[in-house]
Amino acid sequence: MIQLRSLSVSYRTPRGTVAALKNINFHIPYGSATAIVGESGSGKSTLLHSIMRLLPPEAMLSGQIIFQETDVTSLDDKALQSFRWRKCSMVLQGAMSSFNPVLTIGRQISEVLVHHLGFLWKEAFEKSEELLKMVGLPKSFLDRFPHELSGGQKQRAAIAMALACKPPCLLADEPTTALDVITQAEIILLLKEITQKNQMTLCMVTHDLPLALSVCDRLAVMHKGEIVEVQTPSGILNNPTHPHTRKLVESIRSIEERGSRT
Ligand SMILES: Nc1ncnc2c1ncn2[C@@H]1O[C@H](COP(=O)(O)OP(=O)(O)OP(=O)(O)O)[C@@H](O)[C@H]1O
Ligand SMILES: [Mg+2]
Repeated sequence: MIQLRSLSVSYRTPRGTVAALKNINFHIPYGSATAIVGESGSGKSTLLHSIMRLLPPEAMLSGQIIFQETDVTSLDDKALQSFRWRKCSMVLQGAMSSFNPVLTIGRQISEVLVHHLGFLWKEAFEKSEELLKMVGLPKSFLDRFPHELSGGQKQRAAIAMALACKPPCLLADEPTTALDVITQAEIILLLKEITQKNQMTLCMVTHDLPLALSVCDRLAVMHKGEIVEVQTPSGILNNPTHPHTRKLVESIRSIEERGSRT
């Protein structure tokens, strides 16, 4: 579904150039659930932002990003708008705080349907109700303002909005940061369930290796701007090849051992 070919991204800064992605060659198969893990600063968000063409002006990109035969790097503004909502949508890192505080949740989800699919407002509110239901929120949430929702509820609403135009592919950047562990697991399972039910492709960045191992069918490990390993969950657990992956796996083993001793 998505192919990254020799993708490199660097940022211009007053102190010189920072190489964030270094010659990435990677593909995301149709219908797969891929987790991208790796330490802070390894380039995970840059990778997802490159696919969505959301890089800031100081970023320099080379290489190709092919989404179902279309080179995303060559899309004009109009094609890009349609690509972002209808083909490949993204739940941003910190999506919870990206709602407009003075508009209701219903209004904000409906706006996507009106602008991108040409719905009338009445139809859009009806469809938004359906979308909220899909992420486990009741109809009454349509009239709520963002501050009237908990973190987990806001994250659910952000997922509903990302799914509004039924994109075949969903990217999620740390969709569970700042949530308690139970809510984190619920949100990840919700993403998995919705994408599986609708035969969508899911690619998510997460710091939670155990959760990634339990819900995704492939894991890509990033380290200093490179994808150093791509494996199935059992491959990662039983035969991690890159030293950084071994460290990640050892860290969850040592937590489990400490847990079993207490
Ligand atoms: N706008 C920017 N200007 C300059 N450097 C940047 C910019 N955005 C990211 N970087 C740098 O690029 C590298 C990759 O950053 P990125 O945000 O992709 O990492 P990440 O893996 O998502 O980290 P985290 O887990 O903390 O979210 C880092 O060294 C970061 O400092
Ligand atoms: Mg990030």
